[in-house]
Amino acid sequence: MGLKASSCGKIWVLLVALLGGWCAVQAAPVPAPVARELEVGEQPTKSRDMLPAPELIRKSSGQTLAPEIMTLRIDENRTVQGSKSTWQVAVTGAPDESFVTAGFYAMQLGADFFPSNVVVNVNIRYNTESTGRLGTGQSTSTILIDEVFYQVAIAEAITGTNLNGNDFDLLLTIFVIQADGLKWYTGTDARPSLLEYDLVTVLLHESLHALFFSSLVNYRSPTEAGWSSFVMAFDAYLVSFTGCAIRGYLTEADNGFSEDIAKSVTNEDLYLGLPKTSADEFPQMYAPSEWIQGSSVVHYDLDYVSQVLGREDTLMQPAISAGFAQHTVGDQTTALMNGILGKISNAPVLCTPGTYGENQGCPDCVGSLSPAVFWVIIGCCIAFLLITVLLLLCCCTSCCGCGKKAPRKK
Ligand SMILES: *[C@@H]1O[C@H](CO)[C@@H](O)[C@H](O)[C@H]1NC(C)=O
Repeated sequence: MGLKASSCGKIWVLLVALLGGWCAVQAAPVPAPVARELEVGEQPTKSRDMLPAPELIRKSSGQTLAPEIMTLRIDENRTVQGSKSTWQVAVTGAPDESFVTAGFYAMQLGADFFPSNVVVNVNIRYNTESTGRLGTGQSTSTILIDEVFYQVAIAEAITGTNLNGNDFDLLLTIFVIQADGLKWYTGTDARPSLLEYDLVTVLLHESLHALFFSSLVNYRSPTEAGWSSFVMAFDAYLVSFTGCAIRGYLTEADNGFSEDIAKSVTNEDLYLGLPKTSADEFPQMYAPSEWIQGSSVVHYDLDYVSQVLGREDTLMQPAISAGFAQHTVGDQTTALMNGILGKISNAPVLCTPGTYGENQGCPDCVGSLSPAVFWVIIGCCIAFLLITVLLLLCCCTSCCGCGKKAPRKK
């Protein structure tokens, strides 16, 4: 025997109310992820390098050195034959022979790492200015290929052509005198004392900046950052948490400056959008809330580096302490170089203009909904449909029952 239509209605209302209430509770918005702060205690004591402002990454091989460095110190010029490329290395102003030896040793590591058929011309400059930095690495010029800038050495590797004659490609500067009184370790065995900075580590780090680990992000204020013309190849790999390339936020109408780019590079939530490796996560880039020219963006995040300690990605951290040494280029950095050498053909898809902040901290979100909320809503809809169908059937049956009890008059 079927239920009576009236009790059927009551049960339906009750069920709908219960289901509705449960769904409403489940679908309440998830709290936004808490932004991670950089821990001051974790910050290494020494700022390692500052690239010049992007507009200065141009011809500067004609620059002359201070006279006392030219006359008092050792100069040497040697060909370094590596397994992947040949580097012609001129050392300028070395305080003693050990700085020359360490310089050639570091460039040997570079020549065993960087594949090119064109000779890489390098100038290592030992500088006596006290700047609070350990060193800088820059390319002498940038070359435009398919509307993307490449540093000259990588452009030569891509095209297989010498693009700048006998000019230097890489300029590596080491500040010999450190304000903290600490000394340089010029041994090549990666065993500096806790009172010494490892010269080979810093030279290798700076040479990677000069080869490809360098950006043209033009930061002016918290609401204005972008690119004045084209991006550097490196910049094509800078992504938000969701994996889209932040250069996509900039539109023609923005005139080179976008608030979304400014936010992206100062939100401590910037990544390198490489095809995922064993780590199964994007390497996080250094994007402190206050922009640091020459340090922001072009290094790995300190938290990321502390998580990978023991792995080689520590080479490209923003700063090191005395006693630290890393003579190997990491997996992520190598993957980035290979992508750039492939003319960024594996670069991540562009972010859609105007979508900054969407899905922040939630790569699996569906639209603005977290996966849990999305599936609860889908589940509720299905449950709702099923119950409605069941109740209709039930009511229909009871109606048939009613029909027998009270047949309609003709
Ligand atoms: C270094 O030596 C090479 C090969 O002999 C030469 O072509 C180059 O001009 C030299 N560079 C400098 C800076 O002296």
